Amino acid sequence: MNPIPNHIAIVMDGNGRWASKRCLPRVAGHKQGVGSLRRCVKACAQRGVKVLTVFAFSSENWNRPVEEVSGLMSLFTMALAREVPRLKADGVQLHFVGDRAGLSPKVLSGIDSAQAATASNSRLVLNICFNYGGRWDIVQAAAKVVAQGRPISEAALSSAMAMAHVADPDLVIRTGGEQRISNFLLWQTAYSEFYFSDRLWPEFDEAELDLAIQSFGQRERRFGKTSDQVLAQASVPAGA
Ligand code: IPE
Ligand code: IPE
Ligand code: MG
Repeated sequence: MNPIPNHIAIVMDGNGRWASKRCLPRVAGHKQGVGSLRRCVKACAQRGVKVLTVFAFSSENWNRPVEEVSGLMSLFTMALAREVPRLKADGVQLHFVGDRAGLSPKVLSGIDSAQAATASNSRLVLNICFNYGGRWDIVQAAAKVVAQGRPISEAALSSAMAMAHVADPDLVIRTGGEQRISNFLLWQTAYSEFYFSDRLWPEFDEAELDLAIQSFGQRERRFGKTSDQVLAQASVPAGA
């Protein structure tokens, strides 16, 4: 049995379909999704999860209609300004993970002040992947290592990744029914467990989070070993 995952990563998908089903503009689904995220952050902190990473805007999402992209950008800055006092009070440390190039000065200053305001918190690390792509991350890490004149190695790349401040995700949840990675944490999910939920992100709640955590608890994480080896290791008393 695995305990509560230390690090949960979520592809928050299905906002557009949630809105379309209600004959609302897609951005109304994104607005509703902010409420789901607020609930999810609170629930993760209560359950003892230490790191929550969410995919909010991918490198590829620039290809959406301009109204949707600009709607997402303004929602992001508004939601940040509104949510930071609560996050600060709840002990959440915010990190933005992604390519700053291409983001407007307004978005960047929102990011910088939210990070500064929550930097001393330690109850839960919340990574918001924004203008993020797993391939972008691998390429920027490789460029950094080369610029430092160091040889390419797994350790060197890991330490140059945009997520180097946290351990790899234990559990990845994707809502919205799709079963794909969509350029999310390509490097860091090498040994993550996956849970796919048919719920659309605006409908994702504590009960669905608990189902995902319960499913994680039933997985045997072998990391390349045999089941017998894992069981033998688990029966060794702590400290032996
Ligand atoms: C995920 O919801 C949020 C973002 C990509 C910003 P979608 O907007 O992809 O919702 P669907 O998949 O179209 O329903
Ligand atoms: C992934 O969702 C990105 C985010 C949730 C931010 P998409 O809806 O963009 O993924 P695809 O295009 O269906 O693979
Ligand atoms: Mg989608």
